[in-house]
Amino acid sequence: MAKVREVILGVGGGIAAYKSCDLLRRLQERGYQITVVPTPSSLNFVGAATWEALSHRPVTTQVWERVDEVRHISLASKSDALIIAPATADLIARITAGRADDLLTNLVLALNVPILIVPAMHPQMWQDPATQENVKTLRARGFTILEPAIGRLTGDDFGQGRFPETQTIITEFEKLIEVKKDFLGKRVLVTAGGTREAIDPVRFIGNRSSGRQGAAVARAARDRGAQVKMIFANPQLSDEEIEELSGIEILQVETATQMHAALEIEFPATDLLVMSAAVADARPSQYSEGKIKKGQLLDIPLVENPDLLKSIANLRQKQIVIAFAAETNDDLVAAEAKRVAKGANILYLNNVSNGAIFGAVDTEGFIITSNGAQIQVPHTSKDTLAELLLDQALSQLG
Ligand code: CTP
Repeated sequence: MAKVREVILGVGGGIAAYKSCDLLRRLQERGYQITVVPTPSSLNFVGAATWEALSHRPVTTQVWERVDEVRHISLASKSDALIIAPATADLIARITAGRADDLLTNLVLALNVPILIVPAMHPQMWQDPATQENVKTLRARGFTILEPAIGRLTGDDFGQGRFPETQTIITEFEKLIEVKKDFLGKRVLVTAGGTREAIDPVRFIGNRSSGRQGAAVARAARDRGAQVKMIFANPQLSDEEIEELSGIEILQVETATQMHAALEIEFPATDLLVMSAAVADARPSQYSEGKIKKGQLLDIPLVENPDLLKSIANLRQKQIVIAFAAETNDDLVAAEAKRVAKGANILYLNNVSNGAIFGAVDTEGFIITSNGAQIQVPHTSKDTLAELLLDQALSQLG
């Protein structure tokens, strides 16, 4: 599990706020990194110092603090999920109304990740038609809202309104963020990185591909249940990024010729080929055992490398193929022609103008498919693009 790492814990102004301290600790034990965002009124129950000590991170409640960081946006962009626990009737009403009068409610508007709301309040406030109507509205908008537990409240009252057990909250949270397993039983082959064509012992023809996009697709497919193999040319990844590829079989290659050979072996037994490798279009016609003197460099004869995608087309049965095109424009007509020429079902047109994309963790471009779909991918992470590409592939895999 746990691609979800960065979680915001929003804390509303109810007595159950103290129970969220335990929730925070249990979440940390499960490997989540937690940033706590309390509402200002919740500090009456648990102070910022407690949250800072427990989370080892700064705690702010308003957009007027750490303005230089534009905290509501910077936090939103790095977070994978939000848990609001406890959520009071007032907080639920403010979220329903789309208010943005403290940091937490700003975040709710700025976030586009799973949100779990854990209400806790007096039973009569929970049952009030206003609260019930708000809860219904939020559920219709895609928020997951737990039912409060039934039991004794702070006073002598008894009813539905209690903060659920920590374990119940964690179970529901992990159910919510569970990565889809819609690739179970599917075999996915991903080529990644950039091939290098040796000129002599010190020089090669190569390109700036890091292999990061291919790695993102491979991880996403693995997490969705696929059996994944990578044909990886010259990975430019950190040790940590390599570690994240656990469970994926990696065949390392250097040249286009080696990648070609590996593809011929692996392609027949795959359901989906994701051709994210940047294949050098040409190689020196001959490798020089001795270092070539600079005077002779301008005369190195080249031969064209085969187009690997085209050349495996004759091995093709029912495989779905995703191609990538790195271009310095958004020419969709040319991209569609390239998709057809390559025999790919799906092509991602990656706008790499101004040195963007290569080596970066983000991407932007267009997905075009043989079904005629043209999906604009606004500036986003390579992980998100990976999920979008897999969604498209799945709809064609049937
Ligand atoms: N590709 C391939 N074999 C090659 C070159 C590229 O299989 N020899 C694959 C890449 O992995 C990628 C796609 O083809 O999925 C796009 O390649 P690109 O370099 O954009 O296309 P080219 O055919 O080289 O066209 P251009 O002349 O526009 O560079």
